[in-house]
Amino acid sequence: MRLYLGATVLIGLLVAVVTVAQMAFLSKIVDRVFLKAGGGEQAVTLLLMLAGTAVLRAGLLWVRETTAQQGAVRVKNDLRERLFAHVLRLGPAYANSERPGELTTTLTEGVERLDPYFARYLPQVLLSAVVPLLVVAYILPRDAASAVLLVVTAPVIPVMMVLVGSYAEEHTRRQWLALSRMGAHFLGALQGLPTLKAFGRVAAEEEKVERVSGEFRERTLKVLRYAFLSGLVLEFMTAAAIALVAVVLGVRLINGAISFQDAFLVLLLTPEFYRPLRDLGIHRHAGMEGKASAERIFEILDTPVPPDGTVQENLSGELELSFSGVRFTYPGRDLPALDELSLTLPAGSRTALVGRSGSGKSTLVGLLLRFLDPDAGVISANGVPSGDLPAVAWREHVALVPQRPHLFYGNVLENIRLAKPDATRSEVERAAELAGAAEFIRRMPHGYDTQIGERGLRLSGGEAQRLAIARAFLKDAALLIMDEPTSSLDPESERLVRDALDRLTRDRTSLIVAHRLNTVSTADRIVVLHEGQVAETGTHAGLLERKGHYSLLADAYEDVPV
Ligand SMILES: Nc1ncnc2c1ncn2[C@@H]1O[C@H](COP(=O)(O)OP(=O)(O)OP(=O)(O)O)[C@@H](O)[C@H]1O
Ligand SMILES: [Mg+2]
Repeated sequence: MRLYLGATVLIGLLVAVVTVAQMAFLSKIVDRVFLKAGGGEQAVTLLLMLAGTAVLRAGLLWVRETTAQQGAVRVKNDLRERLFAHVLRLGPAYANSERPGELTTTLTEGVERLDPYFARYLPQVLLSAVVPLLVVAYILPRDAASAVLLVVTAPVIPVMMVLVGSYAEEHTRRQWLALSRMGAHFLGALQGLPTLKAFGRVAAEEEKVERVSGEFRERTLKVLRYAFLSGLVLEFMTAAAIALVAVVLGVRLINGAISFQDAFLVLLLTPEFYRPLRDLGIHRHAGMEGKASAERIFEILDTPVPPDGTVQENLSGELELSFSGVRFTYPGRDLPALDELSLTLPAGSRTALVGRSGSGKSTLVGLLLRFLDPDAGVISANGVPSGDLPAVAWREHVALVPQRPHLFYGNVLENIRLAKPDATRSEVERAAELAGAAEFIRRMPHGYDTQIGERGLRLSGGEAQRLAIARAFLKDAALLIMDEPTSSLDPESERLVRDALDRLTRDRTSLIVAHRLNTVSTADRIVVLHEGQVAETGTHAGLLERKGHYSLLADAYEDVPV
């Protein structure tokens, strides 16, 4: 990026030098041909030089344009990749705590807005500092009085710009906020469309989106008004400054205080002196837009990725998992979601995790997957603290069947293979067989090659669940975590999913967040969470007898059709 920026500025400087030379030749030609009436031969050489510099200048301008554009494309690509990679590394905990719509706006439109910032504004800032100095340096030995006049009038333009600009900058920042808010709203409305429809809130949401986009329109118009206003002021100021220089030159020429050639040269160079400053004003608007989004982009890039373990410990065979004194508090929360939590999952055991809504079940799962890091305490597998291992290495040993499995756009084969990218087709088919998914896959229009996920064929809840189980079979990890769907499946799917799950959890350490009595009663052990702590552990019958938290929960389970 620095390279392109440097090249653009360098070429800009060359353009300035060539322009000065061009003007110098022009003033000499006019002087020789029209005033001194002679030196025709010299005039021809000068004319050729003039033509040469004109061609050179055009060429340089073209190169500058392409370099700037190329640089901008590079920078944008690079940033987008880095941003995306960073967001991925920050993980689901971060992506969920930010608004996905806002993140998407930043990744797309935000990066796009950097184009004028890097290609135009930044080079212009440097050029407008150097080029006027260059011009003055050239004029100074020829006509000191004009040089002084230029230097005195020059600050008026930037000062005006700052005055108008500081106003506009605030508005541009607000406009960017409004834009990302609009993105967040659109995405939210799209994702929640079924809910909105079901509750008859579509019209209300429409109004909301209308309001948000109305706000964006207003902000944009305000920003544009300032941009136009500052453009007008700039044009006027430059014209006035040039006129002033011209008048002073004219008076001095009449008084014979300056030669025609010098006066003419100064007059030709005066617009060149003001031009970079005026251009800066013109690009400032684009620059501000870029700056507003650049701030957000760097804020994301500066969000630190939690430190990762480095130990190359080999976990193999069956895993015994233990939590000791684990505490976790969500940012912005006063009370910890999990506190002083200690728990052991014996190797190969099947544990059901139950508890009231908000008791910390999903938090515990997030910690197990290392989407979250405990504030205190240790989670370890076969005695190896999870924090010692890089998160990626840790997750090698964990398979997850989420509450609502996500299907990516692609065919069935690819979707299952996600769990093990180098799996052969027959391995995938075997996993699907074990997961009880093979039959419905075979009935699909193109079998394993049917496109599913976004823009593809839709699957029912039970089918998606079994695909997720097939992924877990394929991965064959030592630890299985499952978040059972809260909505009930139809009895047939329910039976298929349960059978598949029975096969999957055999001889594997497994933790199932259970919402159904059936699941709970087949577990070896039940762990009851209450307000972030383990309240009870035991078997179904044993816990019922205690008449504690579990028996209250179990009463609620009875209401659910099993
Ligand atoms: N992203 C978050 N930011 C802040 N607080 C959160 C977040 N996620 C959960 N919490 C809070 O942490 C506590 C535990 O939530 P958790 O999601 O672990 O409960 P749960 O047992 O999974 O509930 P459910 O059965 O409803 O899924 C709750 O008080 C919840 O409000
Ligand atoms: Mg939950």
